Amino acid sequence: MSSKNKSVNLTSDSSSIELDIKEASVGPSVVDLKNLYKETGLFTFDPAYSTTASCVSHVTYIDGDEGILEYRGYPIEQLAAKSTYLEVAYLLFNGELPSVNNLQEFRSQVKANMILPEQTKTLFQGFDESAHPMAMLTTSIASLSSLYHEGIDVKNYKHQKEFFFNVLGKTPILVANIFNHRNHTNMGQYDEDLTYAENILRLFFGGDTNYEINPVFAKALDILLVLHADHEQNCSTSSVRLAGSSGTNPYAAIAAGVAALWGPAHGGANEAVVKMFGEIESKENISKYIAKAKDKNDRFRLMGFGHRVYKNFDPRATIIREECHKVLNALENNNNPMFELAQELEQIALQDEYFIERNLYPNVDFYSGIIYQAMGLPKEMFTVMFALARTVGWATHWCEMMAQPKLKIGRPRQLYLGEERRNYISIDQR
Ligand code: ACO
Repeated sequence: MSSKNKSVNLTSDSSSIELDIKEASVGPSVVDLKNLYKETGLFTFDPAYSTTASCVSHVTYIDGDEGILEYRGYPIEQLAAKSTYLEVAYLLFNGELPSVNNLQEFRSQVKANMILPEQTKTLFQGFDESAHPMAMLTTSIASLSSLYHEGIDVKNYKHQKEFFFNVLGKTPILVANIFNHRNHTNMGQYDEDLTYAENILRLFFGGDTNYEINPVFAKALDILLVLHADHEQNCSTSSVRLAGSSGTNPYAAIAAGVAALWGPAHGGANEAVVKMFGEIESKENISKYIAKAKDKNDRFRLMGFGHRVYKNFDPRATIIREECHKVLNALENNNNPMFELAQELEQIALQDEYFIERNLYPNVDFYSGIIYQAMGLPKEMFTVMFALARTVGWATHWCEMMAQPKLKIGRPRQLYLGEERRNYISIDQR
C-alpha cells in the first residue's frame, strides 16, 4: 500500500490496477473498487459484507474494537446520560443538538403526525389474536405506502422531511395500537405535559385504568430508545437503503427494515434471549447450555451474545445492565430470578475460553428484555420496541441517501458456481 498517493496496487497474473483509497474522517478508510471489474474482469467476494463499505454516511460511527458508538460524533454514554430520545432524534436527522426552541418545534412536528388515518386504524381488526406484533408492524408500516404514495417525489427535500416526521409520529401510534389490540385494552391519550417516553407508556397502559407512570420506567425507556436509535449500516438499515435505492415508496423501504430487524440474529434477539432464559430455567443448567452453545453440531447459540462489529464490548450493553438494576430496584418485589440467571450466565461465558477466543460479549439485547418485561410488556413486543426506536435511524439514513446528488440502485454481484448448460434438452429426450 502506498500512503503517499493513497492507493493500493492489486496484481493478478494478467493485469495490475491501482485502486484509490478514500479517507474516512475517523476510523478505517476504504479502497475504491468502482473500476475493478471494468479493468480486471474481477468482482470482490464478501458474502456477509463484513469488510464492505456500502455507502458514504455522516450519521453514526462505531469502533468495534474499542467499544465506541457515536451519533453525529457524540459518544453514546453522554447521550444516554444527558439527552432525551427526541433530542437524539433531532441530532440524528439534523446533525446538531437542538436548542430549546428547535426541540419544541421538532416535538410539535412529531406530535402533529401522531394520528392514524381511519383505514390504518381498522387494519388491526384483521389480525388474528395470535399474530406476532412484528408481523403487524411490518404490515401496518407498509400499509402507509397505500395512503402516502401518489405525488411523493423521493428526491424532493420537502417530501423527504414530510415523510420523516410522518413516520416518526405514526410509528408510536401503530406500536401502541398493536399492544392494545393484543391486550384487548384501549389506547391511552397523548398528554402534552409528558415526555416522549412517558407518552409511550401512557399510550400503552393508560387507556382503561388510572395508570400512574413510574418515573424509573420512563427514564429507562427513554434510555433504551436512545441506545437503539441508530447503529450505522446494520442488517435492517442496509435493507432500508437497498430497498430505497430503487426509488421505492419510503414507507415500503422502512417496512423492509422492520422485516429485517425481526430475525433472531438481529433485533429479534431480545425476544429470543428471554425465551432462552426460560429454557435454561435455573443456574444449575447454565453449564449444560454453555456446552450446547459451543457444540458445532447443535444449532443453539447464546442469544444476546456476540456482535459482527463489537469485538471488545458493546457500550449499549454496559448501560442497559445498569438500567436493569435500577428498574428492578424500583419494583416492590425486586427479586428477579431471570436477572440473576442472566448475570450468572454472563459471568460464566465471559470466563470461558470459547467465548474469550471469539470475542463474544453480551450485546444490546442481552438485558433489554428483562427491563421491558418488568415494565409489563410481553416478550413478543420487545422487537417492536426496538423498531420504534430505530425508525428515526432508518428514516435518517433514507433521507441521507436521497440527498445525495445521484441515486444509484444497490445491486450486488455473485460468485456463480452453478451449471453451464448451453443446449436445451427437449422434454421427450430427458
Ligand atoms: N453463541 C455461540 N457461539 C457464537 C455466538 C453465540 N451467540 N455468536 C458467535 N458465535 C461463534 C460462531 O459459532 C463462530 O464460531 P467458529 O469461528 O468456531 O465457527 C464465531 O463465534 C463467529 O461467529 P459468526 O457467526 O461468524 O459471527 P457473525 O459476526 O457473523 O455473527 C451475530 C454475529 C449474528 C450477532 C452472532 O454473534 C449471533 O448469532 N449472536 C446471537 C444472536 C444475537 O444476539 N444477535 C443480536 C446482535 S445485536 C443486534 O443485531 C441488535
